[in-house]
Amino acid sequence: MSDATLVFQPEGKRARGAVGSTILEAAKSVGIDIESPCGNRGTCGKCRAVVREGRQCLSEPSALEARALTVQDRESGYRLACITAIMRTGTIVVEVPNESRLARQRLLVAGIQPPVELCPALTKLFISMTRPTLTDVRSDSQRLLDALAAQHNVRADLAYEAVKELAEAVRQQDWKVTLTVYKEREVTWVEPGDATTSAYGFAVDIGTTKVAGYLLDLNKGAVVATSSMMNPQIPYGDDVITRISFTSKEPRNLWTLHRLIVEGINKLVREACRSAGIDPRHVHEMVTVGNTAMHHIFLNISPKYVAMAPYPDCLGSAIDVRASELGVEINPGAYVHSLPSVVGFVGADAIADIIATEIYKAKEPSLLIDVGTNAEIVLGSEDGLLACSAPSGPAWEGMQIRHGMRASTGAIEKLWIDHESLEPSYKTVDDARPTGICGSGIVDAVAEMLKAGIIDRRGAVVNGLRTGRIRRLEGVSEYVLARTNETGTGKDIVITQKDIREIQLAKAAIYTGAYVLMKRQGVTPSKIGKFYLAGAFGNYIDLQSARVIGLYPDVSLDRVRFVGNAAGAGARMALLSTRIRDLARELASKVEYVQLAAYPGFREEFIKATLLPHEDLSRFEDVRGLVTGD
Ligand code: FES
Repeated sequence: MSDATLVFQPEGKRARGAVGSTILEAAKSVGIDIESPCGNRGTCGKCRAVVREGRQCLSEPSALEARALTVQDRESGYRLACITAIMRTGTIVVEVPNESRLARQRLLVAGIQPPVELCPALTKLFISMTRPTLTDVRSDSQRLLDALAAQHNVRADLAYEAVKELAEAVRQQDWKVTLTVYKEREVTWVEPGDATTSAYGFAVDIGTTKVAGYLLDLNKGAVVATSSMMNPQIPYGDDVITRISFTSKEPRNLWTLHRLIVEGINKLVREACRSAGIDPRHVHEMVTVGNTAMHHIFLNISPKYVAMAPYPDCLGSAIDVRASELGVEINPGAYVHSLPSVVGFVGADAIADIIATEIYKAKEPSLLIDVGTNAEIVLGSEDGLLACSAPSGPAWEGMQIRHGMRASTGAIEKLWIDHESLEPSYKTVDDARPTGICGSGIVDAVAEMLKAGIIDRRGAVVNGLRTGRIRRLEGVSEYVLARTNETGTGKDIVITQKDIREIQLAKAAIYTGAYVLMKRQGVTPSKIGKFYLAGAFGNYIDLQSARVIGLYPDVSLDRVRFVGNAAGAGARMALLSTRIRDLARELASKVEYVQLAAYPGFREEFIKATLLPHEDLSRFEDVRGLVTGD
């Protein structure tokens, strides 16, 4: 016997772990999912597990663990599950704390959607065919195409997938069949009898962190079910750059990530179809949007050069691919239509955002920020559109934050600090005991610490304040948000000096992106007619807190519109109408891309924006009175 036995607590699940494999692999083998956003590289520190027994069976703690875990943690038995290897046989008891578990996240699928005139790419047409006779021995295919031309004036080709079904389908209901005709040029499916009322499509927004799916009735233009999940590629990296570099290491890695997202989407289709009582074979088309890297990987196209200056994408234009070729399990003849991108880092999701918010029609300048790991920023009106992409990082998803977590049960999502006592109060997702802090909570925390004078405008924790909430551990200052006795982890939840720095960098990226676009157009915040804030994080943040930290230009709050998952809405619109797809193509060629790094003075602007809310307080007159500690 050359395997060790691992017992995972509190479930008591037992796994076999081969010498050389890791704790994380053993956990996975028995269905215990541990967060691993850095792709098992030992750098994010999110896969902590406590070894209760059998330390002697494991590899020695490494330098990476010394960096990611405090001395106190290490003494308590904490290890990084992704890099702690099993070295010899024996029994190892491992506790997986809540904060390390891959939790179901609160995902946002709702979003605005302007009305769309129905004009889907596919039509279902009923035809009645004549039977073959000794004097008319045309093939079934020819007979079908002749009937289609005669009864609907449509001349089309017949897809192989449809031909395979043909012989049985036409004979089942006396040579009466329903055809699915794609873009009036190809019959993609044949069904017995009149099935014209059953036409469904599926729209998908493939985000770096989240994937949202929408099942639509194409005859009515209505959403009949939704489903969502965290992107199953997350274990291979939190952000697009990590995933791109993973795909570039070995050819099979692209296939690994491609299969993960395809299987994830298949799951979403199954879930939505199950809840609507529909067979996935009745889904006759899929439309996808996503950032360029996600789109490339979904289509099994290498995204390698998207990450290399000058960052060109390979795909660019819209594309139709047979679903079966991608392994997407909907109707075998169905197509997947992917919307076009603007350039490497402004993808189809940005185009979908523009379509859903209709800022291309706006009379006055409008600003759109889709906050995510990569923030898409668009400024414009009917007179033209500028777009850029700001690498704001995954801090909004709770990554790279000591006790950061996604917006799932137990995450602190709202926070207040009493200015006199410096004591915090908070609200958690599902009102559970706190296990960490998510993006909206972190924004509140930084804003409240600034307003209460716990940090200064450079983000530094102020020394000498009379509160037991501030302490220094291993040379780093931290503020205790929740104490051991009130948390669900049995450990304090803190915001560290480093966490504050992460938020400063992330918010500076977004602010500077928006500022550069506004500067290019000569637009000031007071001239912005509407400010659309998209994305799940955008939907939950406290606008005033966001303004206090300087996350976006100081636009009056009454101009702000939360638009939820606008990219998903754009995908749905494109599924319902080919005119919207034409519009997407037109916008993709018209939107002017602004390369932030190449903008003169960008670096200086970025550095000024790392201050809270900004080095230049005249840009934030409305919050000037709230912030202290120059
Ligand atoms: S440190 Fe283990 S997954 Fe990141």
